[in-house]
Amino acid sequence: MLIKVYGSAVFGVEATTITVEVNIDKGIGYHLVGLPDNAIKESSYRIAAALKNNGYNLPVKKITINMAPADLRKEGSAYDLTLAIGILAASGQIKSDEVDKYLIMGELSLDGSLQPIKGGLPIAIKAKEEGFKGFFLPKQNVKEAAIVAGLDVYGVENVLEVIDFFEGKGTIEPTVINTRDEFYKTLDFPEFDFSEVRGQESIKRCMEIAAAGGHNIILIGPPGSGKTMIAKRLPSILPPMTLKEALETTKIHSVAGKVKDVGLMNQRPFRSPHHTASSVALVGGGSYPQPGEISLAHNGVLFLDELPEFKREVLEVMRQPLEDREVTISRAKFTITYPSSFMLVASMNPSPSGFFNDPDSPNTSSPHEMTRYLSKISGPLLDRIDIHIEVTPVPFDKLTEKRNGESSVEIRKRVTSAREIQSKRFEEIDHIHYNAQMSSKQIREHCALDDASLLLLKTAMERLNLSARAFDRILKVSRTIADLEGADVVGSGHIAEAIQYRSLDRDGWLG
Ligand SMILES: Nc1ncnc2c1ncn2[C@@H]1O[C@H](COP(=O)(O)OP(=O)(O)OP(=O)(O)O)[C@@H](O)[C@H]1O
Ligand SMILES: [Mg+2]
Repeated sequence: MLIKVYGSAVFGVEATTITVEVNIDKGIGYHLVGLPDNAIKESSYRIAAALKNNGYNLPVKKITINMAPADLRKEGSAYDLTLAIGILAASGQIKSDEVDKYLIMGELSLDGSLQPIKGGLPIAIKAKEEGFKGFFLPKQNVKEAAIVAGLDVYGVENVLEVIDFFEGKGTIEPTVINTRDEFYKTLDFPEFDFSEVRGQESIKRCMEIAAAGGHNIILIGPPGSGKTMIAKRLPSILPPMTLKEALETTKIHSVAGKVKDVGLMNQRPFRSPHHTASSVALVGGGSYPQPGEISLAHNGVLFLDELPEFKREVLEVMRQPLEDREVTISRAKFTITYPSSFMLVASMNPSPSGFFNDPDSPNTSSPHEMTRYLSKISGPLLDRIDIHIEVTPVPFDKLTEKRNGESSVEIRKRVTSAREIQSKRFEEIDHIHYNAQMSSKQIREHCALDDASLLLLKTAMERLNLSARAFDRILKVSRTIADLEGADVVGSGHIAEAIQYRSLDRDGWLG
């Protein structure tokens, strides 16, 4: 008998429905056609064992399975359940004319239990679009899929539950998640809050400015000064994600199999890859393409701790995505794109030994070591970082202070108002939403200075020996400082503050 069942393949962050035709005929053999990879070819062994251990069997007949569209490469073991149900239906072990109304995905263990799959959310979105009645997938992935309304999503632990469902024996209920409730839940309770950071008022101010204008930032300070602690709290002061952003981010994490027991991710992600990470781990790719850290950080923060320790070629590959806010991975047969719009926070020690112009600590690095260390971060990547700030450790009495600092939710209110001003400013321009994204032309238009401010900037640039690249960045950051204040025009006070945030352009650093 010929039976059709349905699975799905994920490319980038979109799913495509895969039709699986199962035909059982006289003879003997197991033939799988339609560009399956090795993991799918091996499925017969897993399916045979899983069925046997649950009182069913792989018929000793000629089983032909065709996966369509044939030109699309199908990968991985997530079709085990699709094929198993198809085979049972085609061999009459399941009597139901409903199997083709559901999308069925899951990897089987030999005992029939199910292993998680990747891409539950995009697959559910596609299933809904194409009018499927429901979607069966492993229980571990059910929440991310269940946020799609209008589709019955069943999280199952064992192949038997699916068989019983189609045999009309089961009592399995679809998982229902109210997406709006899920989205607004805990929105005002960030995991890491700025109120826990003692002192460091000027650094917090810098983080507020960075968040308000979407400026990439680098924190320079000795070990233990709190760089990591502060960076981790940046997502908590960024404006709350919109429902659309939350969906985009959850989709990427779903594709990577990294959604952690929530339906919808409503907190901006914070990703902190280690400096030994490979280019593929950072930007994505691989033989089965997967999103990298820059995409997992989409709509959130990417923290590169100890920036100069990253391999130069790894930092190089980030240039394009930083500019385009998406990353394209090309293979001979296909090209996929992952979104990667994130804020970059980098940190570095002032020298390879950890200490530089700290009067209390010896600088044990030679000038040669210093130059080599710093040269790694100069150039293209540094060109995309608007704010440089030195972090000094808080004094002991501040650290032991009982009083909490201002909470992230309070800071976020100011950030959000400043963002609203920017949204209005760039309303007419596609792809530009905040000050950090301004081109030179827009900088000239929106950051026009009066004579006094211009003179101040000129003098400061000469005195501090600031490089030309600092000029545009100071203007952009000044614009954000003015927006935080609600000021229409960038004034000398704003400029004066922004000038302080160019540590690495000064003499003694990168020159
Ligand atoms: N301002 C602060 N308020 C409260 N705790 C702080 C502060 N600064 C540092 N700490 C404490 O010190 C610990 C070390 O800070 P953190 O790891 O952020 O430093 P770091 O600058 O990232 O150091 P490293 O260069 O070693 O990575 C934190 O976990 C925190 O407990
Ligand atoms: Mg650290």
